[in-house]
Amino acid sequence: MADTTIPERIPINLVVNGERRALEVVPWTTLLDMLRDRLELTGTKKGCDHGQCGACTVLVDGRRVNSCLTLAVMKDGAEITTIEGLAKDGTLHPLQQAFIDHDAFQCGYCTPGQICSAAGLLAEGRARDADEIRELMSGNLCRCGAYPNIVAAIEQAMSRP
Ligand code: FES
Ligand code: FES
Repeated sequence: MADTTIPERIPINLVVNGERRALEVVPWTTLLDMLRDRLELTGTKKGCDHGQCGACTVLVDGRRVNSCLTLAVMKDGAEITTIEGLAKDGTLHPLQQAFIDHDAFQCGYCTPGQICSAAGLLAEGRARDADEIRELMSGNLCRCGAYPNIVAAIEQAMSRP
């Protein structure tokens, strides 16, 4: 008879913000909990924990995903970028600078997810104007209502060569 026992821990290898990480995780660990609790990358926020707010957005192989809905074991071998990995050599990512320039945050809780999502949006290259930015960022909620400034910040980053 086949052994149907679920292993207690599963080894996975990831590249997180450019650094190779080898971990053993229980199979039901979400990517979000792994990042926050195991790797202490607490910039990624847990909002709803149900895929509805976008606070937990990170980039997986360059594409934005809700890390609360993603099991860590599903991403074995992937490249993960969190908000901590966007600045390079002490220089803010253009989106981080644009969020500052446009006052695009109030409490800041949604901001890491907004910025990671916007980075994914820019890489997708599908947004051409403010309406399309709004539509393509609609999975990221901001309880402070900073939306106009968030859109302005993304437009600024989008217009850079
Ligand atoms: S915490 Fe993941 S979508 Fe809300
Ligand atoms: S700035 Fe407070 S939730 Fe968006």
